[in-house]
Amino acid sequence: MDQYTHHRERLLTSSRPMPDFEVVGTQGPWLHRAGGTRIFDGSSGLLCTNVGQSSPKVYDRLKKQFFRYSFGGAAVVQPHIQTELMDRLCRAVGRPDDFVALTTCGTLGVEIAIGLARNITRVRDGKQRGDILTSTLSYHGMSALTLALAGNHARRPRHENALDLGPAYPAPYAPTHAHEGRGCDASCADEIAKEIDRRGAENTAAVLIEPVNGTTGGAFVPPDGYLQRVSKICRERNVLVIHDEVLTGLWRTGKPLASHHWDGCKPDMVILSKGLGAGYTAVGAVLVSPETAPWICHEDADPLPAMGTMATHPLMAAACLGVLDELEALDHAALRARGERLGQAMKSLNGVGPVQAVRGLGFLYGLEVTPGKLWPVMEAAEQRGVFFYPFTGAGEPRSEGLVVAPPLISTDEDINFLITALTDALEAV
Ligand SMILES: Cc1ncc(COP(=O)(O)O)c(C=O)c1O
Repeated sequence: MDQYTHHRERLLTSSRPMPDFEVVGTQGPWLHRAGGTRIFDGSSGLLCTNVGQSSPKVYDRLKKQFFRYSFGGAAVVQPHIQTELMDRLCRAVGRPDDFVALTTCGTLGVEIAIGLARNITRVRDGKQRGDILTSTLSYHGMSALTLALAGNHARRPRHENALDLGPAYPAPYAPTHAHEGRGCDASCADEIAKEIDRRGAENTAAVLIEPVNGTTGGAFVPPDGYLQRVSKICRERNVLVIHDEVLTGLWRTGKPLASHHWDGCKPDMVILSKGLGAGYTAVGAVLVSPETAPWICHEDADPLPAMGTMATHPLMAAACLGVLDELEALDHAALRARGERLGQAMKSLNGVGPVQAVRGLGFLYGLEVTPGKLWPVMEAAEQRGVFFYPFTGAGEPRSEGLVVAPPLISTDEDINFLITALTDALEAV
């Protein structure tokens, strides 16, 4: 036991079992272990190292900015690099005229979006609208407010600590939404209409929704037509739509935004984080549509929500520009094809060993396994040279499984390796 292992229990971090290896170097989607072997990162770290590790493009951007100036908040130094980032990011996700707030993580992005939504609707209507509606299978961050609002059962605060808040509508997925004789479809969005009407649209600022479910549940994809219907219901009631794309944004699902898989569900705001920093920097970004943003600049508007000392950190912006350099240099046709091949392979694993269900799209899949088999599968996969992030999900008893979400820069050979190692591991368990 070295001096650091000895002190491990004093570091207050995840209580999940850790993979049992030490990393001494990285390259792209691979981690080099002490002892000379390497292991493939099957879940992009915490669903964030989308362009792999040790990127020369990110390094070049960081180095240049480091020697130019390494700190300069927006109130101190002209935010040129942040403006450059804003333009590049907005164009990359097909929302070229959006206004952008930068901050330091996904949670704060959600908090800022909530603050902006309340401000916008109050100025627009001349009356306070406070409520933010979330689903029973949502996760929106780790602050007191976002934990209290969201549905993630594992992280819900005790009733007395939940600020009188909680999820407001069932997520449109079978384990969380009971129907007689049929599965979920677009009409499940009507639950949102009912809830807004019950509270009164005049009290509701926004619906906050993950367009594709992340790790609370494991990559559930909404029924076709669902997100369009949510947008229509909200538009009819003057309620804003906020898409939490912290996990799904920037090509994780095979397109720049997960909402791009369906026409007609463009949200008023989008929150990005994991894929933008790609593990190189802490960042959150809130994109606000040009139709909505002018209310923020109105003379009756409150001051902008505080975004933090580090919100416009130039090294953060430089790293994000490097990540966008990487993402835009990808062969997007090949990326789509590779995502489809990965999806077919994952879906063919349904029923293999302990696998009970498979879902997802692009580079994001959830493989649900028989309860009790998750850790044996994780261990068997690790022995075969690949590791994954676990999820605990929906339903009763709670489902559990693996998130398969390799870095987007993975080659065909890398994806073949992942598929073979995972198939072997599942067959062995
Ligand atoms: C959908 C979603 N929203 C918000 C967050 C919170 O982001 P962060 O951990 O960067 O604060 C996460 C993190 O996993 C997430 O998956």
